[in-house]
Amino acid sequence: MDGYLNIALPKGRLGEKVYDMFEKSGYPCPSIKENNRKLIFENEELKIRFFWVKPSDVAIYVERGAADVGVAGKDILMEYKPEVYELCDLNMGKCSMCVAGKKDFVDNRNKTLRVATKFVNIAKEYYSAQGRDIDIIALNGSIELAPILSLSDVIVDIVETGTTLKENNLEVVERFMPISARLIANKSSFKFKTEIIEDITSKLQALAENL
Ligand code: PRP
Repeated sequence: MDGYLNIALPKGRLGEKVYDMFEKSGYPCPSIKENNRKLIFENEELKIRFFWVKPSDVAIYVERGAADVGVAGKDILMEYKPEVYELCDLNMGKCSMCVAGKKDFVDNRNKTLRVATKFVNIAKEYYSAQGRDIDIIALNGSIELAPILSLSDVIVDIVETGTTLKENNLEVVERFMPISARLIANKSSFKFKTEIIEDITSKLQALAENL
């Protein structure tokens, strides 16, 4: 323990916006704006350290304490249910978890539904609540291909602008879960670094409410 607060940011456009919120909240780290491939940045005076993490990995860093706080999508939190505290909704990175299929898709409830997805647990929970039998096809990306190639009947995936579905002649069957970015904290960090984590939370929350 070096007394620093470790903050895991999701690498990419969302992460850059999130960093701006930290800066506006009084937690800047100007070197992060230098465009290089470094992954770790420190503000020695404030004793804070930011690092860029693949968005779907942020919750793992926070759960295991490699980061004290971080920003993760609600989709990842629902899928993996990491043991972390969810501190606030940052009101950005908004999208929805959806079922989507080909335009002529009609569900035949007498047949097992083939569902392609990256979000295996979310899809299982969604269909089991309806008592619907499904066959999960776990993919890692380009999920939209599955119904086009008859690998699946539907997909369960994130829809943001809807462009990917539209350009592949698919459409939303049901939107069932709103998603946005959340500030999360490691449980023991929250106990030992309560003051700074609460200060960050209240300042980010105030900014998020005015977005
Ligand atoms: C997500 C999702 C869709 C796309 C939806 O993929 O899986 O493919 O974004 O966005 P849209 O509604 O704005 O078109 P992502 O970019 O995360 O890449 P991935 O396929 O590698 O998961």
